[in-house]
Amino acid sequence: MPGLDGGVAIVTGCASGIGAATVRRLRADGAEVLGTDIDEAAGKALCEEVGARFAPQDVSDRPQWAEIVAQAVDCFGGLHILVNNAGIVSGASIAEVDDETWDRVIAVNLTGTMAGCRAAIPAMIESGRGSIINIASTTAIAPLPGDVGYSASKGGVRVLSKSVATWCAQQGHPIRCNTVIPGATETGILDAAEEATPGLKAAVAATSPMNRLADPAETAAAIAFLASDECPFMTGAELLIDGGALSIHPGF
Ligand SMILES: NC(=O)c1ccc[n+]([C@@H]2O[C@H](COP(=O)([O-])OP(=O)(O)OC[C@H]3O[C@@H](n4cnc5c(N)ncnc54)[C@H](O)[C@@H]3O)[C@@H](O)[C@H]2O)c1
Repeated sequence: MPGLDGGVAIVTGCASGIGAATVRRLRADGAEVLGTDIDEAAGKALCEEVGARFAPQDVSDRPQWAEIVAQAVDCFGGLHILVNNAGIVSGASIAEVDDETWDRVIAVNLTGTMAGCRAAIPAMIESGRGSIINIASTTAIAPLPGDVGYSASKGGVRVLSKSVATWCAQQGHPIRCNTVIPGATETGILDAAEEATPGLKAAVAATSPMNRLADPAETAAAIAFLASDECPFMTGAELLIDGGALSIHPGF
């Protein structure tokens, strides 16, 4: 896609699922990619396979973000794309959630995304253009009663993205920031949820009128579009990749 060939991207949570599919897609479209993950073995293997670089990173470690951005710039000469994809679920309702569980899910999903945006923007200004894609979830619109922290963190990601997008635009910075909102997608996160709640995958697949889960490559295609030069007037936008799940009347 235009703008990806010669572009430089950071993709967090690259070891698995949507992150791995995004690294594959951006590489196929010609971008240089620095993939990061706390899972060093799987992240490294994926990146080696597709000719990307890998760096171990916990996205909630705020000071480490400066090193990650510097590494992308040093290796590839700039930074044009950031995909804040790393995420975790916490599996606790408002009655069950303890401080440690709440703090961790907010630190990874929301604070990690903020820290990524904050660190990337100066390098993108220096590089002449930037596209930030933050990964939320349909739970940011229709939250899970059983996961208050996950739902709240993803709701925060939606609003964070709009604030970043409009600030960059007002400042005249050539940086767009958009949100991808996946529905139920066939990845490790759902495998863990299926173990805890057998039958969950089929149940969430049935929430889409297409009656199936998304393939991570389908989500990666939307991320690649937002990363490209194909949509220069899109900023602060949200792309739902949910097979129509949130578009149908709940009674039908
Ligand atoms: N799979 C779904 O149904 C679904 C639906 C909506 C949104 N999402 C979102 O998509 C994103 C990707 O999730 P996925 O479904 O591919 O899950 P996944 O579990 O397959 O991948 C998540 C990756 O993030 C990494 N990670 C976790 N904590 C990290 C940290 N602190 N620092 C760096 N890396 C970390 C994991 O090691 C893993 O490789 C997440 O933000 C998730 O919330 C997924």
